[in-house]
Amino acid sequence: MSSSYSVPGLSQDDAKRVAETLQHRLYALLDLHLTLKHIHWNVVGPNFIAVHEMLDPHVDSVRAMADAVAERIATLGHVPQGTPGSIVQERSWDDYALGRAPTQEHMAALDRVYTGVIGDHREAIAEFDALDLVTQDLLIGQVETLELYQWFVRAHLDDGGEAAG
Ligand SMILES: [Fe+2]
Repeated sequence: MSSSYSVPGLSQDDAKRVAETLQHRLYALLDLHLTLKHIHWNVVGPNFIAVHEMLDPHVDSVRAMADAVAERIATLGHVPQGTPGSIVQERSWDDYALGRAPTQEHMAALDRVYTGVIGDHREAIAEFDALDLVTQDLLIGQVETLELYQWFVRAHLDDGGEAAG
């Protein structure tokens, strides 16, 4: 499953731990970009075109994140798993539940998806603090963008009332 090399300055044991955590982030990003397209196809009602068109650039961006994570796994001398069967087998969350549904229902469900993905990315960032700062940097950049996208989603759910906090 793995090569005899890692990157300079990173032990093979540490590289293996980083690659294993990254593999779970890869499953999450692959699942997310497929789910974003599913929402793009099934959203209906007021704000349809805004949400429909908002999602495509997010799909492209999250696909690029998955690509970067997979290539980091390969760079570390391990084998990125990107097959649909492996995602379904290894993921710890349920399949996205909504089919055709109004924008607000999809945005509420997508908000929960982002909370899960971002929370797990942040946990990986904390773990990499003592393992590999280069991989950590990759995920930090991704979280900034994912949090921006979650705000786009949450803005649809905001009724403009009193701000929290
Ligand atoms: Fe489309």
